[in-house]
Amino acid sequence: MMAWGTTQLIVTAGDTEQQKVIDHVREAGQGHVFKYWEELNESSRASLLNQLQQVDLTLMAALHEKFIKSGHDSQKKGDLKPADFINLPTTEQQQAAYHQAKKVGEEALRAGRVAAFLVAGGQGTRLGFNGPKGKFPVSPVKNKTLFQLHAEKILALSRKYDVAIPWYIMTSETNHEESVEFFESNSYFGLGAGNMMFFRQEMIPALSPHGKLILDAKDHIFRNPNGHGGSLSALKNSGALDDMKGRGVDIIFYFQVDNVLVKMCDPVFLGYHIQEDAEMSAKVVVKTEPAEKVGVLGCVDSRLGVIEYSDLSETQMQARNADGSLKFQAGNIAIHILNVDFVEKENEGGLRLPWHVAHKKIPCLDETGSVVEQDQTNGYKFETFVFDALGDAKRTVILEVDRAEEFSPVKNKEGVDSPETARRDLGNQFRRWLEAAGVAWSVGKDAIEISPLFALDAEDLKEKLPSDFQISTGVYLA
Ligand code: UTP
Repeated sequence: MMAWGTTQLIVTAGDTEQQKVIDHVREAGQGHVFKYWEELNESSRASLLNQLQQVDLTLMAALHEKFIKSGHDSQKKGDLKPADFINLPTTEQQQAAYHQAKKVGEEALRAGRVAAFLVAGGQGTRLGFNGPKGKFPVSPVKNKTLFQLHAEKILALSRKYDVAIPWYIMTSETNHEESVEFFESNSYFGLGAGNMMFFRQEMIPALSPHGKLILDAKDHIFRNPNGHGGSLSALKNSGALDDMKGRGVDIIFYFQVDNVLVKMCDPVFLGYHIQEDAEMSAKVVVKTEPAEKVGVLGCVDSRLGVIEYSDLSETQMQARNADGSLKFQAGNIAIHILNVDFVEKENEGGLRLPWHVAHKKIPCLDETGSVVEQDQTNGYKFETFVFDALGDAKRTVILEVDRAEEFSPVKNKEGVDSPETARRDLGNQFRRWLEAAGVAWSVGKDAIEISPLFALDAEDLKEKLPSDFQISTGVYLA
């Protein structure tokens, strides 16, 4: 038995390991997490200790010191410069380079060098959907889920290039089982279980303004997924990188779960990345207006990264180039290519991506020990961001893409970047492809859907449709 303040911590005989954990937690000034110890049964105690064992208390103390005690954001903001990028092709020369890149990318796909990698460990708080965001139904006619749309794109590419494209999916403690179960119950959408690997990212506790861990149950500490930057260590620790190497994969196509328009394993992007011998690359869209809330690719003191919109001053945000375009215009859309070797290198000696902090509402216990959802911010969450690795890459390709064709994320319940805008943007894309294929149509607003298994882009569609094809009612092309 050991004492902690006025609370008696009863440790079962022989459990010196448990006692060590308790001592360690107490010495780190986090002993309040044992407030309900006496009420807990054996399994709850074991569970609490198990959670505590996974917490890096030294890191938590450092985060408290850096982000909370000495003012939230002590991240250095130095000299900012916009990043150069490859523009959408307009001239003949640019078109030729674009087609050459596509060929190179297609070769890599055919040779089985490319894996798809989805980060889906986020909590999707803004959408407020009960379940993994990937299970959100979104397509305009068939109401296909985000997961299904992504799966069908990968399957279509596998068929097109006659190669199995392995798909790695990062989940988190909050949604792992439900995500895996969804794929199982849908027979992996025809991709084959052997071509898919699911793994969890790590979690990190939130802190109170006083730097304390937060209980959201008597035997449970509130933790959140450690950000999409955590994907780089999760790829390594889960064995995914080794699995890739075993399959002959050396290039990872990284995408996020919420973008309904993602151009999966885009051969053009792959081609530029390969030709430039890049280690990590990024796709961007040109910002629509100075105040658009999107991070821009840029250099901070010569280091490439993403500059958050809140880190641009009003003058920087409004600044224009001689041709009238915005100076900071390369909006990050969170689509990357990473070399397997680069991810290995990032993990050498432990991942060192910087931490970012966000002031959030965190459920916690009231005086009676009941959990209470908060209506005010009451604590701090910490995350790492994958784009912070861009600055470590020896070479990088930044490629501009057409927003209407490639970027429409489901972030919010309504309004901007919502299911409604995603459905609209998908519908508009299908309409454009049909027009480009010379199809006459006269149907309602949301009544068109083209399965990725039918066509992956306008070119595909043109090839597949008979020249006299016509549409008069709501349609689903599969
Ligand atoms: P967001 O930053 O949009 O977060 O994630 P979110 O969790 O989806 O939504 P909010 O902010 O809670 O409303 C962008 C992508 O990064 C993944 C998400 O699953 C999404 O695909 N992500 C985010 C992770 O995989 N892990 C994380 O820790 C955070």
